[in-house]
Amino acid sequence: MVAVADSLKGRSFTRVADWSRDELMEVLELADELKRLRRAHEEHHLLPGRTLGMIFQKPSTRTRVSFEVGIYELGGTALYLAATDLQLGRGERIKDTATVLSRYLDAIMIRTFAQSDVEELAAHASIPVINGLTDSAHPCQALADVMTIRERFGRIEGLTVAYLGDGNNVCASLMVACAKLGASFVAATPTGYEPAEEAIAVARASGAGIEVTHDPASAAVGADVLYTDVWTSMGQDAEREQRLRDLRGFGIDAGVVARASENVIVLHCLPAHYGEEITEDVLYGHHSAVWDEAENRLHAQKALMALVMR
Ligand code: CP
Ligand code: NVA
Repeated sequence: MVAVADSLKGRSFTRVADWSRDELMEVLELADELKRLRRAHEEHHLLPGRTLGMIFQKPSTRTRVSFEVGIYELGGTALYLAATDLQLGRGERIKDTATVLSRYLDAIMIRTFAQSDVEELAAHASIPVINGLTDSAHPCQALADVMTIRERFGRIEGLTVAYLGDGNNVCASLMVACAKLGASFVAATPTGYEPAEEAIAVARASGAGIEVTHDPASAAVGADVLYTDVWTSMGQDAEREQRLRDLRGFGIDAGVVARASENVIVLHCLPAHYGEEITEDVLYGHHSAVWDEAENRLHAQKALMALVMR
């Protein structure tokens, strides 16, 4: 049986910013090992009998399925809790919800709007709280992203990651993860769509090179990783037409890929919108690592759960 240290036991994962380089590396190392064990059909029931509650206030394909399958493969079980079905949706306090759920569950995964709600849940829960996406962060996605980069290049340090498009939740968490792990990061966004100042400050504090530009063509030049995400995130549907106009020219197509490094990999957290932030030929082209990236959500989150839910 794979050995798992106790050092991260009980920790919440609400923001990449709160975790050190070494802590992130611990997750990545275990994720690689769990991926290997799964492929070899070797038993890895690291969390027998544990229960994960999954609160969803927004839709999901990858996050829901990877967490649910992940805890099952570790020997535990998951409860899907639609926020609208909980008393939370009728005004029960986050504090009271956290206190009660802590009596039943071993960890909570939550996907919602406000980051402050996740922080409040974590502050009042006596069990780990994992952020499954908020308007400002998507830390579990960032774990799978850096796992994929490391898998493809054998390292993260010294690489250049170029993010093109909306400087959103995915961009912010990825930027901080890359910075902590020693990659340079350039975000090319239209004016008004830059990543949050707080994320830029945290990323810069790690000492990595962080650049924010409004020129997608120059950002792509020589990049080892090209990354993009949807132009209209969940909860922004009313702004869709405006966003399509503002973000035109910031998508990834074959021309953008040709400007990057010869061995560039293209990543996208998915779901994708063909012809907006990415073209179908790039998504399915030979530079794409998108499908491994989606699979790695499973392995990275299994490692995270195994470490914090012990
Ligand atoms: N990338 C991601 O979080 O996908 P879902 O919205 O399908 O969970
Ligand atoms: N930025 C997107 C990511 C979806 C996984 C959103 O928040 O909708």
